[in-house]
Amino acid sequence: MAGRAGGRPPAGLTLFIRAIRLDGAPRAGYPFDLPAVRALADGRELRFPTAVTLLSGDNGSGKSTLIEAVAVAAGLNPEGGSESFRFATRSSESSLGEHLTLVRTPGRNPRSGFFLRAESYYNVATEIERLGVTGSYGGVSPHQRSHGESFLDLAAHRFRPGGLYLLDEPEAALSVNGCLALLLRIADLVEAGSQFLIATHSPILLASPGATILEITPEGPIREVPYDQAEPVALTRAFLADPGRFLRHLSL
Ligand SMILES: Nc1ncnc2c1ncn2[C@@H]1O[C@H](COP(=O)(O)OP(=O)(O)OP(=O)(O)O)[C@@H](O)[C@H]1O
Ligand SMILES: [Mg+2]
Repeated sequence: MAGRAGGRPPAGLTLFIRAIRLDGAPRAGYPFDLPAVRALADGRELRFPTAVTLLSGDNGSGKSTLIEAVAVAAGLNPEGGSESFRFATRSSESSLGEHLTLVRTPGRNPRSGFFLRAESYYNVATEIERLGVTGSYGGVSPHQRSHGESFLDLAAHRFRPGGLYLLDEPEAALSVNGCLALLLRIADLVEAGSQFLIATHSPILLASPGATILEITPEGPIREVPYDQAEPVALTRAFLADPGRFLRHLSL
C-alpha cells in the first residue's frame, strides 16, 4: 500500500518510539513463555519503522500482552486511558512492561497519549465521567453514546496532533464505515506528527496507507508482511470469494 500518511513520517518528523527491546527478562511463566515474547527475548529489537505500526496475529498470539506492556512502559494506564488515568478495576496486567525497553528518539516526547482497550473501554468511560472531563471527548459522556460512537468521539476529540496512540482492536466497536472514518482520522493525525501502534484483525485497518504490518507467527517470531499476505486480509478475501466452500468445509 502506498499513500500520503501512515507511512514514512513527514519530513522533519521523528518517531517517539522507534523499537522495543526486552533485556534480562525471566523465561518462565506468563507472559515470558509466550512464543512472541520469547522471540523478543532472544535479543532482537522489534522495530516500528513507520508512523503507523499494525500488530496482527491469531487469537491468543500475544498482541494485547505486547501492546499493554508498551502502554505500561510509556507511562499509560494498563487498563486504558491517558497518563492521568490511574484507576484499576482488576489488576491483571502482566509484568512485561517493567522489563520492556522503549527505544525512543531523544528529546522527542509525545504531547499527548492514550491507550484504547476495546475490552475495558466501559471502565475508561466511567473514569471520564468521574473526572468530569467529557468536554475533551466531544462533550457527551461515552456512556450516553453507542460503543462505536464513543470510539469515534475519542479519536475525533481526544486524539490530538503530536500524540502517541496505542489501540487494541478498535474495530471491536466499529462498522465498516466506522473503520473507514478511523482510517481517515489516523491519516490526518499522522500528518500532524502522531504515532500509532494498533493491534487489529481488521482487513480495513490493516490497509492504513504506508503502515508497517507486523504479524505474530504461530511459532512466535514477529515478521513484517505486505498487506496482501497479512492473514486477516488473505483469509477474508478467500472467504468472500467463495463463502460456500468454507461453510462446506466446516460442515455447515
Ligand atoms: N493474566 C494472564 N495469565 C495467564 N495467561 C494469560 C493472561 N492473559 C492472557 N494470557 C494468555 O496469553 C496468551 C496471549 O493473550 P493475548 O490477550 O495477548 O492475545 P491476543 O493476541 O491479544 O488475542 P486476541 O486476538 O484474542 O485478543 C493467551 O493464550 C492467553 O490465554
Ligand atoms: Mg487481544
